[in-house]
Amino acid sequence: MTVRLGDIAPNFDATTTEGDLNFHDWLGDSWGVLFSHPKDFTPVCTTELGLVAKLKPEFDKRNVKVIGLSVDSVDSHGKWNADIEETQGTAVNFPVIGDSDRKVSDLYDMIHPNANDTLTVRSVFVIGPDKKVKLQITYPASTGRNFDEILRVIDSLQLTAKHKVATPGNWKDGDDVIIGSSVSDEEAKELFPNGWTTVKPYLRTLPQPGK
Ligand code: BEZ
Repeated sequence: MTVRLGDIAPNFDATTTEGDLNFHDWLGDSWGVLFSHPKDFTPVCTTELGLVAKLKPEFDKRNVKVIGLSVDSVDSHGKWNADIEETQGTAVNFPVIGDSDRKVSDLYDMIHPNANDTLTVRSVFVIGPDKKVKLQITYPASTGRNFDEILRVIDSLQLTAKHKVATPGNWKDGDDVIIGSSVSDEEAKELFPNGWTTVKPYLRTLPQPGK
């Protein structure tokens, strides 16, 4: 199945390292990150899971629930967790789906047969409280993900969900933002009474609202 931005994230029941769950029920009113890793007991995945465990407070702060997945069983994930704790200094502190039957991997198109016909690629889906897909990124198995980038995008998504702004390239929390192109100058005057800088009529910047 192809999952595109704006689609409702496909719902599923799954067995995880923290018990059985229904994805939408588990998400509740939170934001969510669903990410796949190709296989248990592999080096890049080991570093990634340790990294996400260390970043858990950052996800919590943003009201984001994180859930991993691989095509191995929950039993296998449990055994691997001991290695992650030993080598990365942190045990995995979020659920990881056991997807031996590839039900969820297929639902989210995480297996790209021309890359590998049995293992998932490194997919990341960010899902909003409305259950819609807000971001998807796909990395190859050989490249570990930059989870600071995922947090940066979540900051942008949460800001733009609240204010009629967009964020420029390489933006990070606290930097100036852009007034969305659908906002007229008249509307902008009401929304941003402290004004903005017009660099071009289509490029209007202002300090990040709420900072
Ligand atoms: C890794 O995590 O290192 C890995 C997993 C599957 C294929 C290649 C690399």
